Amino acid sequence: MSKIQKIKGVADMYPPESTTFAHLEETARKVFSRYGYQEVRLPLMEPTQLFSRSIGEETDVVQKEMYTFPDRKGRSLTLRPEATAGMMRAYIENGLYSPGSVHKMFTFGPMFRYERPQKGRMRQFHQLDVEMVGATEPQADAELVLMLSTYLRTLGMRQLTFEINSLGCRTCRPRHRAALDAFFAALPGFDELCDDCKRRAASNPLRVLDCKVPRCRELTANAPVIEEHLCADCAGAYAEVQAILAAAGVEYVKNPRLVRGLDYYVGLTFEVTSTDIGAQTAVAGGGRYDGLVAQLGGPDVAATGFAIGMERLALLVPPVGQPAPDFFIAVLDPAAPSPALALAQELREAGLIGETGFASGSMKSRMRAADRSGARWCLLLGGQELADGGVTLRDMHSGEQRTLPRAEAVALLAGRG
Ligand code: HAM
Repeated sequence: MSKIQKIKGVADMYPPESTTFAHLEETARKVFSRYGYQEVRLPLMEPTQLFSRSIGEETDVVQKEMYTFPDRKGRSLTLRPEATAGMMRAYIENGLYSPGSVHKMFTFGPMFRYERPQKGRMRQFHQLDVEMVGATEPQADAELVLMLSTYLRTLGMRQLTFEINSLGCRTCRPRHRAALDAFFAALPGFDELCDDCKRRAASNPLRVLDCKVPRCRELTANAPVIEEHLCADCAGAYAEVQAILAAAGVEYVKNPRLVRGLDYYVGLTFEVTSTDIGAQTAVAGGGRYDGLVAQLGGPDVAATGFAIGMERLALLVPPVGQPAPDFFIAVLDPAAPSPALALAQELREAGLIGETGFASGSMKSRMRAADRSGARWCLLLGGQELADGGVTLRDMHSGEQRTLPRAEAVALLAGRG
């Protein structure tokens, strides 16, 4: 029979990566709850329209990367390429809005984008997604960045760069757009732009600044930057976020070309980058997206958030080991397996980690298994111990050995002795 293999761009995850993922999730729960965030779980499939309406028709994600298919009744469904759109759909659908209140939520899970797989870039990848709805203040953006920084530092990460930019609002965006239109109209090498950029120069010129093609970047090196066109409110908010980050000791660099790959952003945007994950430098990205909830049929409420790419983060955090076992029970008598299992059960209920060998194999191989297990203690159960209700305890560090009544041995290992 031919073997069936996994599809391109997805991964089977085993330790140590799966252990690292669990650690990333547990640390997120701990850190984010201090900031008032609650965990939610949302569907992986959504109506296609949700993404085209929020992420934007002109984006790579919507144009080239979505897993979209008809269901059996012909309705167009899409495997979520990101979480924000679904988070806002759920926020609206579950009636979470109440005037003046701030709603903080986060979620983990797989996302799907049909991209060319490489190190740190998968077709099924995982995000840790955080959203805050209802706060208009720049302090909310700053708090979000501070929380991200705290989370990454709690994980032991130091070498990170926070890049920030402001994309302006409904007042400043048209001014920047007009400046970009004038720039492209007068650009001598316009024909040398890639086909995507030529089209986007007309439909959504901000997107051109995000193009990764080197020639496009050269040609647009002097394109007008939005900061020069920010209205007083946006400029003030941007300055305030920077002041808070500086006061908190979070280092950042301003990147006027940081426009992000999704169309819903306004105001502050940010990315965390690292040079240690090959070509895929962005570990996390986010920003403000006031207007999206209204665009999806909900109230006109402000919102801001970010998502971390968990595969990329896992490449950067110090490895998390499995805890070493506390005990290994070596069965030295054919009658011992059942008492050994009962003893193991008692130790595990007391919170200890360990294994029991079963009766098969030679005496030598059973002792070797005890050695290989890396356990702190080896408990020997032979004929004598069974007869006396005792157990022989070997300290695997010192090699010392003594025989104790079983209850005493359990109490000793559980730290109650
Ligand atoms: P994004 O920048 O598209 O933002 O994705 C966030 C992060 O997901 C990226 O920085 C990267 O680490 C990771 N990522 C994206 N694509 C892949 C891939 N193909 N393979 C591995 N990792 C990947 C968003 O998705 C926004 N929804 C973030 C947000 C939340 N904005 C506001 N709230």
